[in-house]
Amino acid sequence: MADSPAQFRGQARLPRFAAPLRYDLRLRPDLAACTFSGAAAVAVAVSAPTRFLVLNAAELDVDRASIRFQDLVPTDVTQFEEDEILVIGFDRELTIGEGVLAMDFTGTLNDQMRGFYRSKYVCNGESRNMAVTQFEAADARRCFPCWDEPAFKAKFKLTLEVPSDLIALSNMPVVKETVSGPIKTVYYEESPLMSTYLVAIVVGLFDYIESSTSEGTKVRVYTQVGKTNQGTFALDVGVKSLDLYKDYFATPYPLPKLDMIAIPDFAAGAMENYGLVTYRETALLYDELQSSASNKQQVAITVAHELAHQWFGNLVTMEWWTHLWLNEGFASWVSYLAVDSLFPEWNNWTQFLDETTSGLRLDALAESHPIEVEINHASEIDAIFDSISYDKGASVIRMLQSYLGAERFQKALASYIKKYAYSNAKTEDLWAVLEEESGEPVKDLMTTWTKQQGYPVIYAKLNGQYLELEQAQFLSDGSSGTGMWIVPITSCCGSYDAQKKFLLKEKTDKMHIKEFTASQSSDGDKNIWIKLNIDQTGFYRVKYDDELAAGLVNAIKAKKLSLMDKIGIVEDSYALSVARKQTLTSLLRLLNAYHDESDYTVLSHVTSVCLSISKISVDATPDLNNDIKKLLINLLLPAAIKLGWDRKDGESHLDVMLRSLLLIGLVRLGHNETINEGVRRFHIFFEDRKTSLLPPDTRKAAYLAVMRTVSMSNRSGYDALLKIYRETAEPQEKSRVLGSLSSSPDKDIVLEALNFMFTDEVRNQDSYYILGGISLEGRDVAWTWLKTNWDHVLKTWNSSSLISDFINSIVSPFTSEEKAAEVSEFFACRMKPSFQRALKQSLERVRISARWIESIRSEPSLGEAVQELLRGAA
Ligand code: BES
Ligand code: ZN
Repeated sequence: MADSPAQFRGQARLPRFAAPLRYDLRLRPDLAACTFSGAAAVAVAVSAPTRFLVLNAAELDVDRASIRFQDLVPTDVTQFEEDEILVIGFDRELTIGEGVLAMDFTGTLNDQMRGFYRSKYVCNGESRNMAVTQFEAADARRCFPCWDEPAFKAKFKLTLEVPSDLIALSNMPVVKETVSGPIKTVYYEESPLMSTYLVAIVVGLFDYIESSTSEGTKVRVYTQVGKTNQGTFALDVGVKSLDLYKDYFATPYPLPKLDMIAIPDFAAGAMENYGLVTYRETALLYDELQSSASNKQQVAITVAHELAHQWFGNLVTMEWWTHLWLNEGFASWVSYLAVDSLFPEWNNWTQFLDETTSGLRLDALAESHPIEVEINHASEIDAIFDSISYDKGASVIRMLQSYLGAERFQKALASYIKKYAYSNAKTEDLWAVLEEESGEPVKDLMTTWTKQQGYPVIYAKLNGQYLELEQAQFLSDGSSGTGMWIVPITSCCGSYDAQKKFLLKEKTDKMHIKEFTASQSSDGDKNIWIKLNIDQTGFYRVKYDDELAAGLVNAIKAKKLSLMDKIGIVEDSYALSVARKQTLTSLLRLLNAYHDESDYTVLSHVTSVCLSISKISVDATPDLNNDIKKLLINLLLPAAIKLGWDRKDGESHLDVMLRSLLLIGLVRLGHNETINEGVRRFHIFFEDRKTSLLPPDTRKAAYLAVMRTVSMSNRSGYDALLKIYRETAEPQEKSRVLGSLSSSPDKDIVLEALNFMFTDEVRNQDSYYILGGISLEGRDVAWTWLKTNWDHVLKTWNSSSLISDFINSIVSPFTSEEKAAEVSEFFACRMKPSFQRALKQSLERVRISARWIESIRSEPSLGEAVQELLRGAA
C-alpha cells in the first residue's frame, strides 16, 4: 500500500508534493452531440520526492496513452471514481522542479447544471443548445483534470474550438481568433493566479451591451438575442459597484474586462466566475414593464454580491471550504453596503435584517453547524452553502463592524485584501489583520461566533436599580445548550441618546441604571424603556422580564423605537414563543402594538410572523383558527387599505413593495375581499395582458387569490394560469405563475401542479418555485407524491443543491411526532450526503412544531385573549 496508488484514497485533500503553476487548456465542445474533447498541458512544480502525480478528475475519459510528464511515460494510471482522483505513477522518482504534464480527454456536456453542461434556449423559433460551465464547489474536475482545490492557484490559458457563428466567452479577453470553415479557434489571454472553481466558459448565441468603469474596465451584459434592453439595469449596477468596491477595498478591479451573462438553466442564483459572472435569467434581467420592484432589488443585490466576490473570493480566496463563509458571508454583507449607497431610498440595511432573521432561525436548530465546518469529502461542500455561511456569516460581520466602527473596519479590510491578493486566507488570518489594525481582541471575540454553532439569548431583568443579564444558548426546541459567547451588548434607556456598550464575557453580568449616561426624564417609570441589541447589530436574541417587555410595548405604541428595533422585538418574541419560553397569547398581544405600522421593512417581519401563527393554529387550535386569522387580518388591513391595489404617482419603492407584501399576506390569511378583488383583476388581465389593473407588483397576489378559489370541479383559474405561463417569454413572470400553481386548497390540483414539474415545460432549475408554493391542505398529497417519485427526483436533482428543497418544502410543514417518525423511516435506507443535513433539519422543525402545538393547547387564556383583542380592534 505504501507505494501503491491506493494510498491516496479516502483523503480529504490532495497531497501537496506537486502543485500546478499554469494550465494550457484546449477544449472543443460539440453542442449537437453534447460531448466535448480536450487537451491539457499543465506546468507542475514538484517540491518533494514522489513517483506519483495525484490530481482530480471525475466523469472524464482520460486517454491513458496520451499522458506524458516531460518525456516520461507513466507506468500505471488509476482513476478512483469515488475519490474523484487520477493517480499517475512513474517508474522512478520525479525530479524536483518544474515539468509539464500533458494529456487528452473527453467528456459529456451533461444536463445536471454542473461541470461542463448544456443549457437549452430558443433563437428565431429554433431550439438550440449552449455550452456552460459551473465549477463551484468541486466540479472543474468534471471538465478537465486539475488540482481542484481553492488553494492550488494557477494561471489559466484557454483555447476554445467552437462553431464559427457562436460567441465563446471565458474569464479573460480574446487575444486571437482563427476561422477554419465551420469551426473557429479562439485564444484567450492568460489569467492571473486563480482557483479552478472560478474558471468559466460560455458558448452560444448572444447579444450584448457595454459600458465602462471610471478606470476604463469594459463591462458587458450578454443576454439572449434581442433582449439587451433587459440588461441595462444590471449593467448600470455592475459598473457602479465596481467603482465602489475599488474604493472600498482600495484595490483596482484585477482583470481587464468583466462580462455578466444570463443562462437559461442554472442551479444557483448566480456564480462569480472571475471576469465572467453567470446568472439565472431572473437574477440578471430587469424589464421596466414586466419586472416587479422586488425583482429589481434581487437583481441589484445579486450583481453587487457577485462583483464583491471579484475581490473577496476571487482575488483573495478561502484556503479551504471550511472558510467558505469568508467568501459568502462577506459578499452578502458588502452587497448591502453597495446597494445601500446606490439606492438609499430602499432602506437596505433595515432589509438586511431578513438575512439576520434567517440566520437566527436556522442556527436555533440542534442540527445547525458552526460557521467554520470541517469538510472531508467534495460531496459535503454543497450542503454548507446555507443560511449559516451566508446569513449568519454576514450578520456576525455586521456585528463586528458595528463593534469596531465602520472606518477602522474598512481600513483593516483593505489591508487584508492587499496582504492576501492572488493568494489564500483562513478565517484567523482575517482576525489577525483586524486585531492588528484595531487593537481590539477580535480573535477571541469572533472565535466564539465562528467555531461554535448556535447563539445566545440574553435574559434581561430589572432588579431594583440594576439591570441583570444572563446568557444561555438559544434553541428552538426549548432546551438550553451549553454554548458561551463573548457578546457585544449594546443597550439604551428611554432614548437613543442614552446608550451603553460592553462585552458580556461571563454567564451573567449586571449594570446600574445610572450607567446610561445621558440625562433622563424622571417623569415616572411609565415612559422608561430599555432596549438591548440596538438596531439588532448583534447576532443574539433578548428575553425581557415582564416589566421591561411592557415598557417596550409602550415604546412601540408611542413610536419611540427605530425600525430595526421594532423588527428585533417581534422576531425575538416569535422565536421565544416557538421555543415555549413565552406564550402565544403574549405574542398576539405584542403584535397588536404594531396595528398602525406602515413601514414595509417592519411589516414584512410582522406578516411573516402572522402567517406562521396562522399555520400553526390550524393544527393547534382548529376552533380558534378563524378568529386568529381575523385578528391577524385586522392587523394588516389598515395599511393595505391605505395603499389599495393601484400604484400612485410618485410613491416610494418601499410602498410598492409593501402593497405586494400585504396583498399576498391577506390572500394567504384567507381575507375574502382581497381574494375577490384579486380574482376580479385577474379576469381583466387574462383578457387584456396590458391592462394597468394588474402590473407585475400585484400579480402574484392575484395569482394566489385565483388559486385559493380553484378546485378540480372549478379549474378554469388553474388552466388560465397555465396559459399565461405558456404564453409569456419572461422568466420572472413564469416564476410568479409556478409559485402559485400548487397553492390551491384542492389536493388533486396540488398533485397536478407537482406533476407539472416533471414535464418538459418546467426547467429543472425551477422546481423550487412549485415546491415553495404548496398549500397547507396539500402537504399530505405532496408527501405521498414525493415517496412515489423519489427515485426520479433523486436521479434528476441529486447533483445540485436543489434536492434539499424537495425535502425542506415537503417535510417541514408537518407538525406531529408521528409524521416525523414516518418520514425518517422512509429515508432510513435512502440517505445521501447531498440532502442529509436538510432532512435532519426538517425533521427537527417538525418536532419543534409538535411541541409548540402542545404548549399552545395548554395556554389557559388564549381563547379569551383572542376575543378581547378582536373586540379591541372592532
Ligand atoms: N458562489 C455562489 C454560487 C454558488 C452557490 C456556487 C452554491 C455553488 C454552490 C454565489 O456567489 C452566490 O452566493 N450566489 C447566490 C446569490 C446571492 C445574491 C446570495 C445564489 O446563488 O443564491
Ligand atoms: Zn456568493
